[in-house]
Amino acid sequence: MKRMKKMISLGLSFLLVLAQIMLISAATNAQEAAAVYGLGDQWSNTPSNWNSGDPCDDNWVGIHCDNNSHVTSITLSSLGLEGTLTGDIQSLTELGTLDLSYNKGLTGQIPAFIGSLSKLENLILVGCSFSGEIPAEIGSLKQLIFLSLNSNKFSGRIPSTIGNLAKLYWLDLADNLLTDEIPVSDGKNPGLDMLIDTKHFHLGMNQLSGAIPEQLFSSNMKLIHLLLDNNNLTGEIPSTLGLVQSLEVLRLDRNHLSGSVPSNINNLTKVAEMHLSNNDLTGPLPNLTGMISLTYLDMSNNTFDESATPAWFSTLPSLTTLVLEYLRVSGEIPMALFSSSPLQTVRLRNNKFNGTLNIGTAFSSQLELVDVQYNNIELYTEGGGYNNQLILVGNPYCEHEASSPHCLESQQPITPYSTEPQDNCVPVSCPTDQSMSPHCICAYPYSGTFSLRAPSFSYLGNSTYFTRLENDIMNSFRKHQLPVDSVSLNNINTDVDEYLSMHLQVFPSGKLRFEQSDISNIGFILSNQTFKTSKDFGPYFFIGAPYTAFLETSTGGKSSNSKTVIIGVVAGAVVLALILIILLVFLVRHKKKTKNAVEKSQPFESWVVTKRSGDAPQLKGARSFTYEEIRKCTNNFAESNEIGTGGYGKVYKGTLANGQLVAIKRAQQGSMQGGLEFKTEIEMLSRVHHKNLVSLIGFCFDKGEQMLIYEYITNGSLKESLTGKSGVQLDWKRRLRVALGAAKGLAYLHDLADPPIIHRDIKSSNILLDNHLNAKVSDFGLSKPMTDTDKGHVTTQVKGTMGYLDPEYYMSQQLTEKSDVYSFGVLLLELLTARKPIELGRYVVREVRVMMDKGKDLYGLDQLLDPILISSSLGGFCEFIDLALSCVEEEGINRPKMSQVVTELEKIMVLAGMNPIIEAGSTSSSYEATTSKSGGSYHPYGNEAFDYSGGAPSAKVEAK
Ligand SMILES: *[C@@H]1O[C@H](CO)[C@@H](O)[C@H](O)[C@H]1NC(C)=O
Ligand SMILES: *[C@@H]1O[C@H](CO)[C@@H](O)[C@H](O)[C@H]1NC(C)=O
Ligand SMILES: *[C@@H]1O[C@H](CO)[C@@H](O)[C@H](O)[C@H]1NC(C)=O
Ligand SMILES: *[C@@H]1O[C@H](CO)[C@@H](O)[C@H](O)[C@H]1NC(C)=O
Repeated sequence: MKRMKKMISLGLSFLLVLAQIMLISAATNAQEAAAVYGLGDQWSNTPSNWNSGDPCDDNWVGIHCDNNSHVTSITLSSLGLEGTLTGDIQSLTELGTLDLSYNKGLTGQIPAFIGSLSKLENLILVGCSFSGEIPAEIGSLKQLIFLSLNSNKFSGRIPSTIGNLAKLYWLDLADNLLTDEIPVSDGKNPGLDMLIDTKHFHLGMNQLSGAIPEQLFSSNMKLIHLLLDNNNLTGEIPSTLGLVQSLEVLRLDRNHLSGSVPSNINNLTKVAEMHLSNNDLTGPLPNLTGMISLTYLDMSNNTFDESATPAWFSTLPSLTTLVLEYLRVSGEIPMALFSSSPLQTVRLRNNKFNGTLNIGTAFSSQLELVDVQYNNIELYTEGGGYNNQLILVGNPYCEHEASSPHCLESQQPITPYSTEPQDNCVPVSCPTDQSMSPHCICAYPYSGTFSLRAPSFSYLGNSTYFTRLENDIMNSFRKHQLPVDSVSLNNINTDVDEYLSMHLQVFPSGKLRFEQSDISNIGFILSNQTFKTSKDFGPYFFIGAPYTAFLETSTGGKSSNSKTVIIGVVAGAVVLALILIILLVFLVRHKKKTKNAVEKSQPFESWVVTKRSGDAPQLKGARSFTYEEIRKCTNNFAESNEIGTGGYGKVYKGTLANGQLVAIKRAQQGSMQGGLEFKTEIEMLSRVHHKNLVSLIGFCFDKGEQMLIYEYITNGSLKESLTGKSGVQLDWKRRLRVALGAAKGLAYLHDLADPPIIHRDIKSSNILLDNHLNAKVSDFGLSKPMTDTDKGHVTTQVKGTMGYLDPEYYMSQQLTEKSDVYSFGVLLLELLTARKPIELGRYVVREVRVMMDKGKDLYGLDQLLDPILISSSLGGFCEFIDLALSCVEEEGINRPKMSQVVTELEKIMVLAGMNPIIEAGSTSSSYEATTSKSGGSYHPYGNEAFDYSGGAPSAKVEAK
């Protein structure tokens, strides 16, 4: 049993190491990073975290990278991007997916150099405003599988080079302004006839002209959807079409096709939806007896020969919808037609049907509409039990039965389906900018128009179809673990082009609004056709609306430059200025009255109150600074004062008026918190006072800025010392002191801070050294008060730094203070090796475990040791290793608490001939760095300010 457990745990740890090795990534390839920066510069409204850091390492929204830090995918749908596609994109040579769908502000041409993206598999630019010709170079994208350029403004001809895309599965160029003929190969040039493996030709809603080339079709094609509707095509339907046995959906409607329908169309036994309406087709009404899969048939508005009721009227077994308007069909409508079991709609207006209409008693239970206006029907046999819509207006019948309800021009219209509240929840009224989810919760939904290009059904009141569609969409989001609570469908209608369109709303799960990454992921499911409709629904397209409900602080770096926005901004600014003036006047007066010479912390009203009342939220360090003060003390945020950057923003060195050196962490646009959260963070930070913790001096909440002002720690980080970057040499005893100091700082956070704090990102770059080489734990950016975990709260995002990350936390996402103990154990090993925890695919914890031999001197680990240590005596070395390994035990409960670690380290110090009590005194061993530091080139406060040896040492992971 025990061994089993051990094996499982070993297995887990191996998996974790593997995961860490796989996830660890060097910074984005420089050229690609530059390209992404370039794109970001060019576009407005890029995601908020695109402002700094590294595209791969810092998980830029919409950017995905491979293990070698190449950018492999860009997915940025519905974010309101504005701009053009620039030359930068060609540097992304490993790009597999580019999805910029639903950004109406993206304009201009697709540049020819798109052709250099030789790995591109998915090019998805649905619903943007790209224009000009589709470049012929697109034909060089040999790996392309998905090409979706629908709903843009592309003009000119379809490039024949698309015929070279042998792997193409999906070709959607619909809803553009494309002209000229459909290209086919001619010995010199390629053409679409070469795409024998492509399953989708969606070319409708363009201005394509000329005849449909006979050569386009062949019997070895795998085409299932052929959509050429709403073009300007002329000539006959080529008989080769009958060879494409795989065909399921055929739309040739709304063109100028002429001549007779080739008889072998009757051979297309899989075709379920066929639209030939609104053409100039002549000859006999085609024989469709063989098209046994037909569900939806529309051949209206052609000029076929006058004809008697065709035989297939009564024989097609799956028909739901029969639309034959404005044709000259005559004879009685056979009663058998209505007994086709799924029949829903029969529209036969303006024909020459005569005699008696008898729907019979065995009619389809789904039958909802029989529209036979303007025929020659004399009699209608009631009494069969059919009570749904029947329109007989314009028939002789109505001349003598004028009072019949079937003779009224306007009849009760069908009410289309619309999503209802579910599970008997009680509807609530929502703020106007929000909507109510099917679970009766108000939120900001992501929405758009979802359109079926050729559904198999026509009855819009039928909830069976639409609830299934809702469930299918929902399941697709669930399968991809997207934070979606529910979806709703409404405004369902069939538009003039026989597309079935509806308004889709997608509601966030457990939150009021989606984040930018959610939108990019949800948009991608729909733009990339990851969500696949079942056959009944046929091909679809979705046009997402821009999602405008992101938190105000998280909208992109540059504002939109549209006029309305400028007007809005100006108006807003005027109002704001007025408010500010009133506020200022009020404040100045108020100040005079109270003579309150304390800090300008008015935005933090409650603090002022608590201070006055003498209560003690320890805000003694937390001074409020004005923007002006900070600007001055950083030399106007001069570049030379920059000492680091992180995901949060930049860190500047500054000198206060009183001469004190400070480090200023300045939140960039986009990573700002709400005022309240900022206040909470300051409250937390200013309650924390320990000599082994970097202390907060103050903050600035002014002019739309959020800055935290810390004490400046002179000797940089432990990491810089270990790598020799800071010139601070650390011998064995100094390392023990640093370890003890850091341990004490952490133990304080766990045991004495109120509320207790889990650091979550313990690593050598977050341990700073002051001028006495006292360790100071820094960067509580990821810190988290423990009260949340006490409530059994499971964090959904694993945060931390690869190599230091607790495997148990990673697996369970359950955060405890033992996760910090794990990271601290890794830090102890780092103190010995002076190497990154994961280097060249090797994980220090595993290395030590594997190499360790307790029988040998130094446990046989001398090869792993930092060479600097080898020469000196290493008292307590083995105990140190034992302690480190106990900290990195697989299971948190087997790890010591930080307070126990402190005790152990003190014992080890004794073994090393030190006196832990004296050593703990902050001034006992004053130290001045012996080597000159190169012009403040260290960045002690950044999240990840520099690296060991070229590659960035950490990859932040966010587990889904
Ligand atoms: C369609 O073609 C005809 C001539 O065949 C032309 O006159 C007409 O402008 C075209 N329509 C469009 C929308 O291109
Ligand atoms: C229909 O297909 C069959 C084989 O599936 C073939 O023998 C026949 O000639 C085809 N009919 C037409 C009109 O092409
Ligand atoms: C229609 O086609 C079927 C084969 O699918 C054939 O049996 C029938 O004779 C045809 N009818 C006419 C009128 O040609
Ligand atoms: C046929 O044409 C008429 C007149 O243009 C139009 O009102 C009707 O909607 C068309 N029918 C179909 C099914 O497209």
